[in-house]
Amino acid sequence: MEKILILDFGGQYNQLIARRVRSEHVYAEIKPYNRISVDEIKKEGYKGIVFTGGPHSVYDPASPHYDPSILNAGIPILGICYGDQLIAFMENGIVSSADNSSEYGKTTVNLSDNALFRNVPETNICWMSHSDFIKTPPASFKIIAYTDKCPCAAMYDEKRSIYGVQFHPEVTHTEHGTQMLRNFVFDICGCCGDWKMDDFIDQSIDKYRKQLEGKKVILALSGGVDSSVAAVLIHKAVGDNLTCVFVDHGMLRKDEGNLVEQTFSSKFGINLIRVNAEDRFLSKLAGVTEPEKKRKIIGEEFIRVFEEEASKLGKIHVLVQGTIYPDVIESGSGDSAVIKSHHNVGGLPENIMFDELIEPLRSLFKDEVREIGTRLGIPHELVWRQPFPGPGLAVRIIGEITKEKLDTLREADAIFREEISKSGQEVLPSQYFAVLTDMRSVGVMGDARTYGKTIVLRAVKTDDFMTAEWARLPFDVLERASNRITNEVKGISRVVYDITSKPPATVEWE
Ligand code: XMP
Repeated sequence: MEKILILDFGGQYNQLIARRVRSEHVYAEIKPYNRISVDEIKKEGYKGIVFTGGPHSVYDPASPHYDPSILNAGIPILGICYGDQLIAFMENGIVSSADNSSEYGKTTVNLSDNALFRNVPETNICWMSHSDFIKTPPASFKIIAYTDKCPCAAMYDEKRSIYGVQFHPEVTHTEHGTQMLRNFVFDICGCCGDWKMDDFIDQSIDKYRKQLEGKKVILALSGGVDSSVAAVLIHKAVGDNLTCVFVDHGMLRKDEGNLVEQTFSSKFGINLIRVNAEDRFLSKLAGVTEPEKKRKIIGEEFIRVFEEEASKLGKIHVLVQGTIYPDVIESGSGDSAVIKSHHNVGGLPENIMFDELIEPLRSLFKDEVREIGTRLGIPHELVWRQPFPGPGLAVRIIGEITKEKLDTLREADAIFREEISKSGQEVLPSQYFAVLTDMRSVGVMGDARTYGKTIVLRAVKTDDFMTAEWARLPFDVLERASNRITNEVKGISRVVYDITSKPPATVEWE
């Protein structure tokens, strides 16, 4: 399979570069610059390499540098921003820093006639984000773009097929940026676009059918997109040798447990063990009010329940996990690679021995996992499920968790979600839910005074959940949700809407 290497120098758009390339049906993988040598790159047979941007200056002693022999490896290269400056630096060009040459934001760039800019207008708006700039390109390079401030906004070495651009073609603010990446991948690297989702599905099924033949396989199913897709994919490969354990900790949303059970048991015919462990979790959580303690208890108990179920099944050879690419990408900006840990309940159980760990979605981004889920026939509401924290409603109930509070929150949350989906909004918030506070306030119902609890409605817009904006929901949606919650949910006398962004608040209340 043809593939492109994204050599990571710590830039913020690196995942985006890989996604853009993959959306052209060319497989792209990201490697930290210090985790792959020139020899390994040659051995892997990459059709092209992208040097990413990064936060450093090439003259900074701590800045990431790469083995200059890569430029003579006979593989086309595209350097972006820092990657562009690094190429200039490695080949003895002059990279300078001048306050009046830094550019940030949308910038008009004048482009020459060049393979990289095929089908792109001569004058193009590009996204810039740099303070250093290339003053003089290396001797073998020609300038192929400039701006008012930047004499060398792009350069190339025709003989070696090495290109550098100061701007970011991968961000949508660069007009025709996708066309430039397409030109690089197809015309310059000679890829033909053979990475197709259907092939991925067929090849995975085929591979795991052989690899797991006769082995007993187990998977912890949460009902989230990743574990659901992994379950259906592996089931297609091993059939009844797969057992899914669905630990219902009692902190799921309304009807969620039943949806998971019906989908996987009835629709797909997967061996599913649903463990109704609500009482067990609630008794462990009794009297606990501290958020991190709640998380810890739920995480530990989850693993314990899973282990108990697994041990009832006899010898299990293989554990399947729904890890996806953003969970495993290592950061290239430091010497010690940081692997993002699975931010979820039910990490790898330590006390059970499995011969093998299989992560069939390890190379995929979330949108690719969703595409595969759809192709495998998983219902829309599961494939497009909004993120839901592993500890579930436990982090949406302030204070101690009780069965009564869970039921109250489930009702209010279901009403809010229903009103949002009924409102037919074109773009749904990234995450939206209700929170049950332990605050009481005075109300009036009929002629009587009430003293009920307060529900908070929360809806946010975000790309990465690291930062988030509160969603500007239409007032009539909020009004309908509020009316219905105070009328239909016992014990609630007030509904408020959370208008705090992240930071300073977090998405969840606990
Ligand atoms: P915060 O509250 O940190 O949430 O702004 C960011 C995203 O992470 C989810 N989240 C969790 N997911 N276990 C999870 O699996 C957790 O303990 C947890 N806490 C927060 C949250 O729903 C949001 O999508």
